[in-house]
Amino acid sequence: MPSAKKILITGATGYIGRRLKARLLNRDDLVCRLLVRNRNKVSVKVRDLLDIVEGDTFQQEALDRALAGIDAAYYLIHSMGKDKDFKDLDRKSAENFRDAAIRAGVRRIIYLGGLGVRQSASKHLLSRIETGEILSAKPAEIQTIWFRAGVIIGSGSASFDIIRNLVQKLPCMITPKWVTTLTQPISIEDVLSYLVAAINLPAENNLMIDIGAETMNFKQMMLTAAKVMGLKRWMIPVPFLSPRLSSYWLIFFTPVPYALAAALVEGLKSETISQNDHAAKFFPDITPEPYAQAVARALKELEQQHVISRWCDSSAGVACDIKEHEDPGSSILRDVRTLPLEGTTAASVYQAACGIGGEHGWYTYTFLWRLRGFIDKMAGGYGLSRGRRVAEKLRVGDALDFWKVADLKENKRILLLAQMKVPGKAWLEFDIQQDQLVQTAHFLPSGIWGRIYWYIVAPLHNLVFVDLVQKILATAKGLDAAKISS
Ligand SMILES: NC(=O)c1ccc[n+]([C@@H]2O[C@H](COP(=O)([O-])OP(=O)(O)OC[C@H]3O[C@@H](n4cnc5c(N)ncnc54)[C@H](OP(=O)(O)O)[C@@H]3O)[C@@H](O)[C@H]2O)c1
Repeated sequence: MPSAKKILITGATGYIGRRLKARLLNRDDLVCRLLVRNRNKVSVKVRDLLDIVEGDTFQQEALDRALAGIDAAYYLIHSMGKDKDFKDLDRKSAENFRDAAIRAGVRRIIYLGGLGVRQSASKHLLSRIETGEILSAKPAEIQTIWFRAGVIIGSGSASFDIIRNLVQKLPCMITPKWVTTLTQPISIEDVLSYLVAAINLPAENNLMIDIGAETMNFKQMMLTAAKVMGLKRWMIPVPFLSPRLSSYWLIFFTPVPYALAAALVEGLKSETISQNDHAAKFFPDITPEPYAQAVARALKELEQQHVISRWCDSSAGVACDIKEHEDPGSSILRDVRTLPLEGTTAASVYQAACGIGGEHGWYTYTFLWRLRGFIDKMAGGYGLSRGRRVAEKLRVGDALDFWKVADLKENKRILLLAQMKVPGKAWLEFDIQQDQLVQTAHFLPSGIWGRIYWYIVAPLHNLVFVDLVQKILATAKGLDAAKISS
């Protein structure tokens, strides 16, 4: 039997990488290693099963360790959202990765970029094209298999979240011109099938492989999604919806923030359809499932609470979760609420605190949280509409409304990092001690405006934070009672 191939997955805490990792995890013919920026974002179970290197593509030493002994390496990284100079970061990251892979004697890089042509590409797509070109630039030393996908349909993908929210919320839509631009959507399951099959593809040279199912436009995608959901929808085209107005439209009705909406709309202005037939030629066993089937599958996953990854999983440039120095120890202002456990178990308190937010809401003052979410959206933030990946359970890196889960210690601690627009840095911490629950809102103000903000919202904090800690304990008591009676 041939020895197991050694595979490196980068971007393993992102939308594509997380799902790829789940597919490759239990294969006997492969040994997988991950390069991640924060190992706490990988579940304890997976951490025990796989070799993990912590670091990023800007650290040569981490790259060398990650790539040592590897046969094929997935490059599923981008710097979008990080900085205005994301193009430079993308370029440097790809160069570092390619050169380190050559040094390590890696035979194949497998990269997923975006579909589209340079002439009409948005600046994000241009950067994806440039990344592919850099990775492919030394064919004599390393082979690159470069997949290009357009709109990806799957539970938790940004495009699907947009389509689903628009279709569910708006019986009648006025639509901009770009809804008639042609594209070739593909289900996330098919994307993964191509990525996996590329490991053993018998090819020596660089390859560019465009992947997608049937060609359709965004309007057809929305009407088909409505049909799958059993809804009747009407669309009225108007000439005056500029990309900027469209982006505002999207942030009102979907969970994506302005920056992502604007990037997606920019991308949808130009056609994204396959430029080659390499997918059928090199992977004859893969037939992309029709769009309607991909939508039905994604809806089912949402219904069954089986969402492996979401578009907002990666830190997308916002503080890369928690490192020692980012712990709220540095905060200056605090709102501390302490309540005795009164016989409630730590496990139930943890379970109750893990269930807050999303569709469940924030107890009595949900309207105040919603108002804060609305203000946040207006300011270009995430608002409350991101909700949560699944009900009840949390994972480090999960988005939870306008928070990000920064740290979890089972039955002991939940730390949420605020991703709402605030003049400073904010955390919400639940510290479950032996006999009490300590809930702390920490705030590190930036300058005088930060302090003014804190004191203006203090009366509202007084309402919502008292309520929150009390209701978590009440819910925990209910859970305990239910456990006893069952
Ligand atoms: N998702 C789609 O709909 C879609 C469609 C077409 C093509 N693609 C392509 O698929 C690829 C992956 O996209 P995605 O949607 O999975 O992205 P994503 O969800 O934003 O994930 C990006 C991943 O890259 C990691 N990362 C970013 N910079 C890094 C660095 N310098 N070093 C190490 N890790 C770094 C992030 O880590 P943290 O978790 O620490 O932030 C995260 O794991 C991209 O090339 C994209 O163009 C995606």
